[in-house]
Amino acid sequence: MQVVLDYLKRNQARFVAELCEYLRFPSVSAQPQHKKDLRACAGWLVNHARQIGLEARLCPTAGHPIVVAKTPRAPGPRKPHFMIYGHYDVQPPEPLDLWKSPPFTPRIQGRSIYARGSTDNKGQNFAHFKAVEAYLKTGTPLPCDLTFVIEGEEEVGSANLAKFLKSHRRELACDAVVVSDTGMPSPKHPALTYSLRGIIAFEITVHGPSRDLHSGVFGGAVENPAMALARLLAQVRDASGRVTIPGFYDGIAPLSAYERKQFARFPIKDRDLQKLLGVKKLFGERGFTPTEQRSARPTFEINGLTSGYQGQGSKTIVPAWAHAKITCRLVPNQRPVKIRELVCRYIEKICPPTVRLEIEAGHGAEAYLVSPQSREAQAALRALKAAFGCQPVLMREGGSIPIVNDFKKILRADSLLLGLGLPDDNAHSPNEKFNLDCFAKGQLMSAHLWQELSRI
Ligand code: BES
Ligand code: MN
Repeated sequence: MQVVLDYLKRNQARFVAELCEYLRFPSVSAQPQHKKDLRACAGWLVNHARQIGLEARLCPTAGHPIVVAKTPRAPGPRKPHFMIYGHYDVQPPEPLDLWKSPPFTPRIQGRSIYARGSTDNKGQNFAHFKAVEAYLKTGTPLPCDLTFVIEGEEEVGSANLAKFLKSHRRELACDAVVVSDTGMPSPKHPALTYSLRGIIAFEITVHGPSRDLHSGVFGGAVENPAMALARLLAQVRDASGRVTIPGFYDGIAPLSAYERKQFARFPIKDRDLQKLLGVKKLFGERGFTPTEQRSARPTFEINGLTSGYQGQGSKTIVPAWAHAKITCRLVPNQRPVKIRELVCRYIEKICPPTVRLEIEAGHGAEAYLVSPQSREAQAALRALKAAFGCQPVLMREGGSIPIVNDFKKILRADSLLLGLGLPDDNAHSPNEKFNLDCFAKGQLMSAHLWQELSRI
């Protein structure tokens, strides 16, 4: 094992140079003009995996290809098998003018590497590749079999991965899935995330007159769709931050005293959060702390709101329509299908008769919750401690990784969420970065993890 750790230490500079190559591909899954770049990025990863001694292949799908890479299987008794999941696709880099250097020209400053996809998720999944390389290149036997599954459609809803899991059920059957695609509170607080929120997405359109109207000539006699939509949306949440939709909170388990104690110990304090986010004051559901609100309570959020004239200067119209993009984050025991129905029914009920309402359904996923007491979770905590040299924290996070539910349903495998991202990494924002200490310690964590997981 020491030879593995020494190898990692000796090769950091090369690893960073290789990560730069990986980050140079503009693998933006949401933008059709980048289709070739996704294919090229996946091809690069397959080649790289082969160079470090893995058996790798590119698996085409109806969308972007999936990369599968396996440690060579030795004959003999069955070893434990773990899957490492990650994604090589990235969010759109726009708005470009807010980047201090181009998003696909990696730049190192201090202990950070800046590029789109650096923390979400190329840097994080590459740390696992480098740990496995250290075993393979030093001839150190791995105590388990490993299969990397790195997809190209996570940021657009993983539409083709569940089908792939079903058609490769035998090959991918495993004891647990390891995912580094979440966060940790600080470099001194490595973390095991044991819960993620679920999500439902939908769009609402409120239709008024058959065309934009002169607001002087007709205004007053027709309902303004923007006003109708604003009033409608404003009724969905009360002043204390509670969602008013009947049944929305039904069946949600109250937070246990133990969990609330854990939340209270979360190392990011309210004032730090307020400063980090640049808000005047924090906001949230009464009776819950900000940490609880953003990880263990459901929400109703407007992600986009459009109506009327958006250009320069004024234009006196009553707009023909108003549109909102909405997502709700869900917590355990909230069924996406049920919540979607409750939301639709309520919006239909409160919509005034003067406009026509149209609701369009989008993607949806359940929340995820596993026991942090399992033997696998305990093994992961030991690996985190060995790598980072300090006590790991257990946390629930508010983001969503819908495919982890499919790992459970299709492969019957739990996911260990061992994130290496920091709160100021700017995932999905301009100037995304990844901390190089998190990169190096992530490799150590991975190297220890296979020992710890295989021992149980
Ligand atoms: N890596 C994130 C998910 C995440 C981030 C989980 C931080 C926990 C903490 C992932 O790439 C992501 O952005 N997921 C989307 C899912 C959506 C597109 C269905 C999300 O959470 O919005
Ligand atoms: Mn993301």
